[in-house]
Amino acid sequence: MSFTELAELILQDAKVLDKYIQENNLPQPALGVNGPARTPFTSKEALSARADLLANTHKLHHLTQGPAAPWLGTLNADHVPIRGEASFDQVALKAGLALRDFKMVVRYAMSNFIFCEPRPGFIAHTASSKLLTENKLIRSLMSMGVNEIFPGIVKEIEALERYSGSEEPTESAWAIANDARSPLFAELAHHHPSRAENMAFAMESLATMFSDVIIVEAYDWASMGAATIVDVGGGKGFVSRQLAKHFPQLSFVVQDLEETADAGREQLPAELKDRITFMTHDFFTEQPVKGADAYFLRAIFHDWPDKYCIQILHNLIPALKNGAKIIMQDPFTSDPLTMHPWQDRECRSSNLRMKLFFNACDRETTEWQELIEKADPGFKLKGIKPRDREPGNEWGPKMALVEIIWDG
Ligand SMILES: C[S@@+](CC[C@H](N)C(=O)[O-])C[C@H]1O[C@@H](n2cnc3c(N)ncnc32)[C@H](O)[C@@H]1O
Repeated sequence: MSFTELAELILQDAKVLDKYIQENNLPQPALGVNGPARTPFTSKEALSARADLLANTHKLHHLTQGPAAPWLGTLNADHVPIRGEASFDQVALKAGLALRDFKMVVRYAMSNFIFCEPRPGFIAHTASSKLLTENKLIRSLMSMGVNEIFPGIVKEIEALERYSGSEEPTESAWAIANDARSPLFAELAHHHPSRAENMAFAMESLATMFSDVIIVEAYDWASMGAATIVDVGGGKGFVSRQLAKHFPQLSFVVQDLEETADAGREQLPAELKDRITFMTHDFFTEQPVKGADAYFLRAIFHDWPDKYCIQILHNLIPALKNGAKIIMQDPFTSDPLTMHPWQDRECRSSNLRMKLFFNACDRETTEWQELIEKADPGFKLKGIKPRDREPGNEWGPKMALVEIIWDG
């Protein structure tokens, strides 16, 4: 396809989005400090045009640029005032960097619309750099990128060469980069508490990033009546808190590693204390809460290679009453060649992150089926239901709700 043909497709989609913004009286997206944090496209036509626009502008950008990949740096944005400007000298001094180094890094960031130079020698915020300062979610994700993902990327080839096909989280690129002796979450909890805290917040942010609908509407929770749900690896209880607010008949036991469970207990709002309890539990040991109606494992299985997922399932068995539900929710990989190119890109990068961190993956339908069959014949797969992560956006990444009934 020629540059012009591609640009014409982009123009068509751009017109759809402009029309949508106008008809819905939305603020115009802008790179400046007053630009909106996001533009809520919700109609099918606008979401589809947006996905095509992202895919095609990305393609055009790469075609135009040639094969040299750009590299994006990250900065602490706090030293620049939200409104107004500061001189390069002032900010470099606060950041403790030599002026020349500072200028080089910041001007590169500016070329990616992070900060701007309103007049020579002065620095001001853009919408992107302001988000980095003000939005804890963005900060936690950026910190996760800088502290956990980037060092792992550097070691990914080494990990593939040394441990191709490995099912050991301690042989992942992240483990090599950190000289880790235990899997990521345990290693951070025991040796890097501030990174562990950031990671826990990033997980919570990811769970809320699109909308709580993907949790609340993913399953017919109300049909369970006055049930007890064990939220295995439930972090600080964000997901259980959401469900408890929407379904007043449900009670929850949130289990996680000691530090995370303790933090969740401390942060639990008083009004939920009678329906949510926290418990330290390692899911590689036998499940201590016997006879619960359901065991919920959200964003757990994509952190673990198959053999460990099977162990996690086995450790539930002694606690399961007949008919107990095991409900899992994980990022989902659609079948190859069925995805929109933009969705495919997001899905592939999420998958590689799981590889890099844990030697694990986001699973496709057949991979879920094989895993559950291998675990135990008593696990009866009731269904695998993928749904849009962002409601109505079928061009974005998906989450799957996987339900098993115990009949052992
Ligand atoms: C990706 S987070 C998912 C958290 C939560 N379920 C959610 O959906 O937001 C994975 C969680 O598993 C916990 N975890 C890791 N290893 C564990 C283990 N051996 N036993 C219990 N929890 C563990 C981590 O501390 C973390 O909270």
